[in-house]
Order: sequence, then C-alpha cells, then structure tokens
Amino acid sequence: MSETTVRLPDGTPVLIRPLTSEDGAELRRGLEHLSPRSAYRRFLGTPPSPTSATVRYLTDVDHVNHEALGASDPASGHGIAVARFVRDHADPSRAELAIAIADAWQRRGLGTLLLDALATRARAVGITTLTGLVLADNTGMLKLFDHLGPTRRQPAGAGTVEVEADLKA
Ligand SMILES: CC(C)(COP(=O)(O)OP(=O)(O)OC[C@H]1O[C@@H](n2cnc3c(N)ncnc32)[C@H](O)[C@@H]1OP(=O)(O)O)[C@@H](O)C(=O)NCCC(=O)NCCS
Repeated sequence: MSETTVRLPDGTPVLIRPLTSEDGAELRRGLEHLSPRSAYRRFLGTPPSPTSATVRYLTDVDHVNHEALGASDPASGHGIAVARFVRDHADPSRAELAIAIADAWQRRGLGTLLLDALATRARAVGITTLTGLVLADNTGMLKLFDHLGPTRRQPAGAGTVEVEADLKA
C-alpha cells in the first residue's frame, strides 16, 4: 500500500500509509501525547515505556505477519493515529488488532477509515478473522469492530471482552 489521502466525513484530508523504521520519533511523540484515558484503553493498563526496542517493534514491521498503518495530518505533518494487526502464530488466518487515534481526532470517522484500510491489508495477506481485547465499556471500539463484519464477543476478565470479527469478503 502506498500513501493514500482519505477524507473524514467533515472533508478534512488525512494521509494513510504503512509505518517504516523511519517513523520511530513520530510514534514516540504520539505515545507521549495520548491522554492517560486513551492510553489506558489502547494498552489495557499502563502503556509500555517507549524504549528503542519497543519503538522498533512497533514500527519496523514486516507488513505480512505484522502490519502497522499510520495516519498523519497533512497540515502539521504529525502522526495522528496508528492501527495494527499481529498475526496469530497458531492460526495464521487470524490476527489481533489494536488502534489508537490522537484525542483531538477521535469521533471524527478516522477510526472507521483506518480500520477499513487495515482490513483491506489483512485480507490481502490471507487473514480472515481479526480479534481484539477491548474494555467492555469501550463503546467506540466495539462499534468499530461491528463495522468489520459479523462479530462474536466473550468476557475475558478484568472488565475486558475478547472480540472476533470475520472480515467481509
Ligand atoms: C476507539 C477509537 C479507536 C475509535 O476511533 P474513532 O476515530 O473515534 O471512531 P469513529 O469516529 O470512526 O467512530 C466509530 C463509531 O464509534 C462511535 N464512537 C466513537 N467513539 C465513541 C465513544 N467515545 N462513545 C460512543 N461511541 C463512540 C462513533 O459514533 C461511530 O459510531 P457509528 O458506527 O454508529 O457511526 C478511538 O476512540 C481511540 O483511539 N480510543 C483510544 C484507544 C482505544 O480505545 N483503542 C482501542 C483498543 S484496541
């Protein structure tokens, strides 16, 4: 996937492209700017320290078993969201997804557009089911999952649910 311009429902343009190892500084900046509430919802607890090893893991991905799509604001040049999947070793038709949108950009349709792009990437590499561990009160994320296709939900303890979505063909 090359860089693509999408438009939010309000017309604002956003750039989406796969992350590369060059994106470490911007990813670190994004993590530092995420509100404690959003960081907690993304990482289901305290976010990892942005050590070089963590940042390398999150950016230097192979785009087949681990994909990470970044969205940026063309006006500022800064990253505003990341969505990723990591393929399941035991069942390569499945992958776990995670997504975080910068607070000022939430509820503007960006999660929907980014997850749509991620699902397209997932299908292209043979993934048919996306899974995620989500806080049970994370209505926005649960609604996003429903956009992907038929979903199943199972309580997974500590206020979380394991969600599975079969990707639309
Ligand atoms: C959850 C998250 C990814 C949603 O992204 P977003 O860009 O805000 O979502 P969208 O604007 O595309 O909205 C998708 C749907 O969720 C709804 N929604 C979004 N945030 C919501 C909220 N806080 N409460 C209720 N509904 C919400 C929207 O109204 C929309 O509903 P629709 O399907 O009926 O149209 C984003 O809020 C986020 O990054 N949160 C912090 C990190 C996180 O929770 N990550 C998920 C862990 S995997």
